[in-house]
Amino acid sequence: MIEIKDLHKSFGTQRVLKGVNLKIEEGQVTAVVGRSGGGKSVLLKHIVGLIKPDRGSIFIRGQDITKLSGKRLDEIRSQIGVVFQGGALFDSLTVYDNVAFPLVEKGKLKKEEIHKRVIKALSDVGLQGMEYKYPAELSGGMRKRVALARALISEPKIILFDEPTTGLDPILVRTIHKLIRQAHEQYGFTGLIISHEIPEIFEISDKVAMLHDGKIIEVGTPEEFQKSENPYVKNFIMGLEEQEDRL
Ligand SMILES: Nc1ncnc2c1ncn2[C@@H]1O[C@H](COP(=O)(O)OP(=O)(O)O)[C@@H](O)[C@H]1O
Ligand SMILES: [Mg+2]
Repeated sequence: MIEIKDLHKSFGTQRVLKGVNLKIEEGQVTAVVGRSGGGKSVLLKHIVGLIKPDRGSIFIRGQDITKLSGKRLDEIRSQIGVVFQGGALFDSLTVYDNVAFPLVEKGKLKKEEIHKRVIKALSDVGLQGMEYKYPAELSGGMRKRVALARALISEPKIILFDEPTTGLDPILVRTIHKLIRQAHEQYGFTGLIISHEIPEIFEISDKVAMLHDGKIIEVGTPEEFQKSENPYVKNFIMGLEEQEDRL
């Protein structure tokens, strides 16, 4: 579904991605973990075509999107939903209008159809009755749900989540993860979740990959990943990543 090949990206003299290789299988949920500042969001932005690599390719259903621009890139993008880090809701819009936004922007559906979909997406994430609230009136967990509903509304084939649970307490992390899993079963999208929720992320992923020093250094099922012999992986799982300089 998505194949990332030898992806390189520097900002000035800072080399962030140094040859990332990763296959994201159709219909699966793949998690990318790694320490903060390691380039996970940069990687995600490449997949939506928001950043162009210095070198390498990203194939989405066989098409190298790093070579596309304009209409053809927009076409691929319209099949991808994104939940950005922090949710990126519009503060001046109600929950309803935030969720409806991608459909209204596309301008293809009638008002009644949009209404039906918004109500369904909100109920799928447990936010029925919240249509006319503003983001500022919602709790952190509720804002994450709105962001999820907005990603689901256009029923995209691919959904990318950039740390969808940051800042939530462990119980809410599990609740949001459960919602993502439920939505995955219902909508059947191919999912990529950037996360540092260890161990919770293992419960909802089919594959876990670790980005370290600009490369994917491990990938496997959650069981395989947790048995990894790679010292960086082991330390990351144990929450010792800040000590890795001592390795
Ligand atoms: N547009 C940009 N311009 C310059 N530097 C950037 C840009 N985006 C990200 N970076 C840098 O790239 C590194 C990786 O960032 P990021 O992908 O956000 O890390 P994370 O793994 O925490 O998501 C950071 O050092 C960040 O400052
Ligand atoms: Mg990030």
